[in-house]
Amino acid sequence: MDKLVISGGHPLHGTVPVSGAKNAALPILIATLVAPGEHRLANVPDLVDVSSMLSLLGRIGCPSLVGAVNRIDTSRVTFCEAPYDLVRKMRASVLALGPLLARCGEAHVSLPGGCAIGMRPIDQHLKGLEALGCTFELEGGYVHGTVDRLRGAHIRFDVATVTGTENVLMAAVLAEGETILENAAAEPEVEDLANFLRSMGAKIEGAGTSRIVIQGVTSLAPAEKPYSILPDRIEAGTYLVAGAITGGDVRCEGANAEDLAPVLSALEAAGCGVERGEGWVRAWRDGPIRAIDLETRPHPGFPTDMQAQFMALLSLAEGSSRVRENIFENRFMHAAELLRLGARIDIDGNLATVHGVEHLSGATVMATDLRASASLVLAGLAARGTTEVLRLYHLDRGYERLEEKLGAIGAQVQRASEGRPAAAPRAAG
Ligand code: EPU
Repeated sequence: MDKLVISGGHPLHGTVPVSGAKNAALPILIATLVAPGEHRLANVPDLVDVSSMLSLLGRIGCPSLVGAVNRIDTSRVTFCEAPYDLVRKMRASVLALGPLLARCGEAHVSLPGGCAIGMRPIDQHLKGLEALGCTFELEGGYVHGTVDRLRGAHIRFDVATVTGTENVLMAAVLAEGETILENAAAEPEVEDLANFLRSMGAKIEGAGTSRIVIQGVTSLAPAEKPYSILPDRIEAGTYLVAGAITGGDVRCEGANAEDLAPVLSALEAAGCGVERGEGWVRAWRDGPIRAIDLETRPHPGFPTDMQAQFMALLSLAEGSSRVRENIFENRFMHAAELLRLGARIDIDGNLATVHGVEHLSGATVMATDLRASASLVLAGLAARGTTEVLRLYHLDRGYERLEEKLGAIGAQVQRASEGRPAAAPRAAG
């Protein structure tokens, strides 16, 4: 297993190119199933989760070719299953449910189970698909779904769910008649999926808001031009915090400022300078970090996927900040590791009180999930001395070429094997 060795305390300066969004690429890759033929996708990030999704498509009978433009051939589907060995590695495999039901009238998908950040049930995915006429049986850890004919329905989600909305959307585009989704997730990644489906002939309105209206069509066909995945707002936000926490100045090229609005407001409130333009954002800090109160909310609220990174930043603020996590019940696992670096954080249920300290000091820490890992890397970049972040595979699931991008803006980081001591950290660029 790999670890990241960071020599902290160097302000980061420079420009980071933003990759395609993981959470848009994953549903878009599997959505190719709803239109038989060859698909071309651009700006697909090179991530472990993307490879897992391509493996799943391969199992289903759809080969792919990875390059600057990814090609996926969904002409034939030979196997309607998302098996446990793939779902357990990547819970987004559950996104196969809607497209497989729409394409084959049948789907056999392993239940994802809980994970480090919470229970993460899929009852809303099933509720929405049932309303479209699907029936489900749970057996042997799998959900087995069948449908004769998908029929449009009026569905109100009890909880706004990103992948739940996406699953139902991918089935509804091929249902007979109109489907209305209320309390739908409004995240930019849902909108990107809808745009991709529209490029194949789907009729969807309102994606990116909480009410999505879909007019079912009888068939869809691969788009003529390659579809380009939207930029990753969470990756961009993470690099902006890297600039802010080290007292540096980072510009993210290719980022969409509008999608980052709640993150940029929080950076400004915390005492950072922020600038935005067409296709770029920039954040810097030359004064103290100010304590702020944050609450995670569905989009356009502050994203849960940036909560851990802000907790690292606020651990160095003047004064005490309050961070409330409203989306996932167990998403403070990074706090205990931040304490090992010298942070002062009290947890009470879903509320973390972060008492700012003057400095953090390097230590060995263990990553528990993707964004927790990012938070530990950020804290390590600001800490005095050397920080080792173990279990790097979490980061490889969601950050493309992390140490290269960080090295290029002046971070002293090195990937090493957990078994071996690292050579003296150096800039990886
Ligand atoms: N929920 C239910 N029932 C359901 C589905 C969700 O109760 O059927 C609850 C969840 O337990 C949670 C809340 O609804 O409390 C919202 O969860 P959501 O379903 O929106 O999360 P998700 O679709 O499983 C996606 C992202 C996550 C991101 C969340 C929230 C993908 C592949 N994953 O997960 O990304 O945190 O939305 O924005 O899109 C990450 O990238 O690190 C990550 C975890």
